[in-house]
Amino acid sequence: MNVQGRSGEAVPSSATLTDHVAEYDPDIDQILITGEEIQAKISLLGEEITADYRGRDLLLIGVLKGAFVVMADLSRHIRLPLQFDFMAVSSYGASTKTSGVVRILKDLDLEIEGRDVLLVEDIIDSGLTLAYLLKNIRTRRPASLEVCALFRKTEVQQVNLDIRYRGFELPPVFVVGYGLDYNERYRNLPYLATLKPEVYREPLG
Ligand code: IMP
Ligand code: MG
Repeated sequence: MNVQGRSGEAVPSSATLTDHVAEYDPDIDQILITGEEIQAKISLLGEEITADYRGRDLLLIGVLKGAFVVMADLSRHIRLPLQFDFMAVSSYGASTKTSGVVRILKDLDLEIEGRDVLLVEDIIDSGLTLAYLLKNIRTRRPASLEVCALFRKTEVQQVNLDIRYRGFELPPVFVVGYGLDYNERYRNLPYLATLKPEVYREPLG
């Protein structure tokens, strides 16, 4: 397919977002949620957030690294002036099990006192990371604080959390794609998938 460049000449288009990574194909066990399903949900969440935050001082806070993908897509479905900030936390290391220990690797750049903060999370597993972050952010006295979480593993939830904007409920399995990694890989897959068991047995690298 060719698209028209600014000066009118044909520009060869690159691969589309829905193309996946051929090298990852042998590792994928099952696609749980397609890229199209994810995009449809994000569009709905964006509309809801747009309606709720009109006229307010919206600041999106993303939890790195996983949330960078959902932040990019969600923010473009929020048709309001807004600002971004990011926090980086580490709870898992290179393993697939939660430790309950949260370390702040990068703190916020902006002052959030008196602002309407929406914390955007990729996935909530035990809820420990989010519980810690909410407590931490609340001490900085935002005017309001809500959470948008794209994926949520319901059965394993250890902490009871009030999540205003919800995407998909998942079974308690380890998943990759759409920002989520195993050993820092698979984040750029447009869909959410499980990996074949042998992937976890191979040496990391
Ligand atoms: P929690 O503290 O157990 O809720 O873990 C939350 C964080 O762990 C998420 O923000 C992810 O970075 C990571 N995580 C949880 N489940 C998965 C998964 O299935 N795949 C990849 N990362 C996950
Ligand atoms: Mg992770």
